[in-house]
Amino acid sequence: MGNDVLGRVEERLAKGRLGGGRDKIDRQHAQGKLTARERIEQFLDEGSFEETDGLVEHHCTDFGMGEKKIAGDGVVTGHGRVDGRPVFVFAQDFTVFGGSLSESNAAKICKIMDLAMKVGAPVVGLNDSGGARIQEGVGSLAGYADIFLRNTIASGVVPQISAIMGPCAGGAVYSPAITDFVFMVEETAYMFVTGPEVIKTVTHEEVTMEKLGGAMTHNSVSGVAHFASRSDTECLASMRRLLSFLPSNNAEQPPVVETSDPLDREIPELDHFVPSDPNKPYDIVKLIRWAADDGDFVQIHEHYAKNIVVGFIRIGGRSVGVIANQPAHLAGVLDINASVKGARFVRFCDAFNIPLWIVEDVPGFLPGTAQEWGGIIRHGAKLLYALAEATVPKVTVITRKAYGGAYCVMGSKHIRTDVNLAFPTAEIAVMGPHGAVNILYRQEIQGAKDADAKRAELVAEYQEKFANPFVAAEKGYIDGVVLPRMLRRKLIAAFAMLSTKRDTMPTKKHGNIPL
Ligand code: HXC
Repeated sequence: MGNDVLGRVEERLAKGRLGGGRDKIDRQHAQGKLTARERIEQFLDEGSFEETDGLVEHHCTDFGMGEKKIAGDGVVTGHGRVDGRPVFVFAQDFTVFGGSLSESNAAKICKIMDLAMKVGAPVVGLNDSGGARIQEGVGSLAGYADIFLRNTIASGVVPQISAIMGPCAGGAVYSPAITDFVFMVEETAYMFVTGPEVIKTVTHEEVTMEKLGGAMTHNSVSGVAHFASRSDTECLASMRRLLSFLPSNNAEQPPVVETSDPLDREIPELDHFVPSDPNKPYDIVKLIRWAADDGDFVQIHEHYAKNIVVGFIRIGGRSVGVIANQPAHLAGVLDINASVKGARFVRFCDAFNIPLWIVEDVPGFLPGTAQEWGGIIRHGAKLLYALAEATVPKVTVITRKAYGGAYCVMGSKHIRTDVNLAFPTAEIAVMGPHGAVNILYRQEIQGAKDADAKRAELVAEYQEKFANPFVAAEKGYIDGVVLPRMLRRKLIAAFAMLSTKRDTMPTKKHGNIPL
């Protein structure tokens, strides 16, 4: 091969590596953003990136585009490793035509998605784009739809993770929306279907980009995003950490990590942690961290529907998905947002062979017209459906309240949970003592000389009889009442026993979860 050929290839690649050029790179940096290549470099294990299609160009000749071609065409694609495991990645390059999506650029993304499906590796998309390449018209829209189709087919086969690190607007938002986890960088990222200008014209509302679709809006209000990061660097590190809990595909088990945290560690603090007064709040995250290997807990959707907590821990080195009511927020009640948050997480875990630990302290579903009219029946059913259909190992621990329908939903024995344990403080009943005596003994209370004293007496009687774990344990709905200090040991024993669990659903095209 002549030196001139080698030189030409190197020259074209080098030009491509510079993207839209020095000025545009400087502008990207000035906005606090890394370039597409810098992001990939920080995300992957050092030196592991293998680029694909670095020489691809667009084929558009309209609007003078024939003269404007940049090798790579605005998206950097390829594969590399995260903690030694293969991962496919694409990073939109805002310095090239604003990272906008052309036909060629979409074909590059589809190529790595197809490869990822063949070899069974996660796909990570780093989004920073002005949307459809305006000069290419419907060709660009076709490119988006090609990606959406692959996102859908890959769902539940390989983990798909999106980072929004700049603009992501219009129909472009629907690719990240189909993926499993969405990260957003504060202040530089925004997502919306229609922007502030269109909104002003149509609904006369005035809203800033940040308030409409910034990282915290989507993390705390809409629930579109699962993680908010303060910088590109933090975002990329968080994605690596998340991947460490996940298998590479749905045919694999999650990685097992050695831990120095003793498997027989007792938690004496837990014996007096859960208040016996059912109205007293406590922080369930503390309990989760105490049980987890090295106190390590990656919360997902931390800022959204805080009355339910979901995320990943390891127990004895094995990944476990936790779904827990949070008594420190709205008393841990189940409402629409908590149900949807929980259901989506449970379905991810079930799709990717990640066992579930359900931690229950729930007063029931939230009453009110807003909830009823908003469809709490339909949305609450999602959580029930997701937990009932899950065939991964399931372990429920009732720490305190398990009332009413919420008892059935939150991993009860009846929806084929494998191990159900309760703390001595557990209260398993149709409803709380006050509600129950008010219904059962209305006439006696009204007729009593001292109604309050009568009510208190009846509440105490009810509590003694029903507000405990023993009635359920006598029926075998609870496998055992355990001392809180033994929580970690019990979980380790349960998940180790269940590690060879096999359970299936009947053959069907797919179920019909109440969407
Ligand atoms: C082609 C684009 C582009 C686009 C930006 N650029 N968006 N080129 N198609 N969609 C180019 C700009 O012309 C500019 O080129 C460079 O990228 C940087 O853009 P700026 O405007 O200078 O950057 P900034 O001020 O940071 O503004 C970013 C922006 C803005 C808010 C994203 O560029 C913008 O509004 N772009 C258009 C967004 C849009 O309407 N997209 C289509 C949405 S519809 P030069 O050469 O000057 O540097 C859609 C449908 C998807 O996406 C449907 C899927 C089903």
